[in-house]
Amino acid sequence: MDLESYVRVLPKAELHLHIEGTLEPELMFELARRNGVALPWKSVEETRAAYAFEDLQSFLDLYYAGAAALVCEEDFFDLAMAYFERAAADGVVHAELFFDPQTHTARGVAYETVLNGLERACATAQRRFDISSRLILCFLRHLSEEEGFATLAQALPQVARIHGVGLDSSEMGHPPSKFARLFARCRELGLHVVAHAGEEGPPEYIIEALDLLQVERIDHGVRAFESPALMARLAGEQMPLTVCPLSNVKLCVFPTLADHNLKAMLDAGIKVTINSDDPAYFGGYVGKNYVDSAAALGLGREELKRIARNSLEAAFVSDAERAPWLARLASIEA
Ligand code: HPA
Ligand code: ZN
Repeated sequence: MDLESYVRVLPKAELHLHIEGTLEPELMFELARRNGVALPWKSVEETRAAYAFEDLQSFLDLYYAGAAALVCEEDFFDLAMAYFERAAADGVVHAELFFDPQTHTARGVAYETVLNGLERACATAQRRFDISSRLILCFLRHLSEEEGFATLAQALPQVARIHGVGLDSSEMGHPPSKFARLFARCRELGLHVVAHAGEEGPPEYIIEALDLLQVERIDHGVRAFESPALMARLAGEQMPLTVCPLSNVKLCVFPTLADHNLKAMLDAGIKVTINSDDPAYFGGYVGKNYVDSAAALGLGREELKRIARNSLEAAFVSDAERAPWLARLASIEA
């Protein structure tokens, strides 16, 4: 079996995926036409050509511009179905989708419109592709904690429709501590909690996410590498990191994939997972993230299998749901 086929047959969970970041330019243009929305680009080709980023913010500016094409419930359904189809082809058995309600409510799109479309896609994906999924509401950290509380208030009447909360958008200058009260409230509500930390921000932001937000996984976390004490803590606590290798290269966190610290973190005993983040913008879905990382870093098949196992173990599902995936994974020969 070649490497691509091997990666494809590994049952895996995708745990770091912004559904708005799966909006391919073709669908973006189709939805913009459907909705009479003007985009800042003239064509699909011009859009793709604009995807040369120098940092997180230069990406976010385009990502929020593209999200303007999403208006109706059907748009969110189509968006998520396109993702699930790709995920199924990559051997994803379970996906936890981040969504950014504030990006949409700020444009007058109702929270329920977003949720209805995504939820219907999740149910359809279970039937059509046998993929289970969860929705994780992300708060935009460049906005205030008060605005985060207002978003939580919108979600509250039907809070069971979401599974957890996360924290994304511009990291520098917006430390996890800014959201300590909001996350405490979310934990009281029984929601799972995760946060982006240590993508561009310093190791201290990862420590804040752990101590103040009490997160159950760290999204990215690659700058933990600068602190041996934090590395030891992450390994000791078996705290999952949702690493996104192609994203990190596209946003210039590492100069090339060969410079990525994913293998070093794995070797240090950290519970690393591989994910795609915003695949329509970063040049590859989860399968390509596995394959390209293996090629650039010399990951062996047992290591790829361990990464897939980590993803299943770090998923927010019951042990009864997890067991058949783990059994299937264990049966795969390297
Ligand atoms: N980092 C922070 N915010 C984001 C990202 C990311 O990689 N993708 C979408 N929102
Ligand atoms: Zn992300």
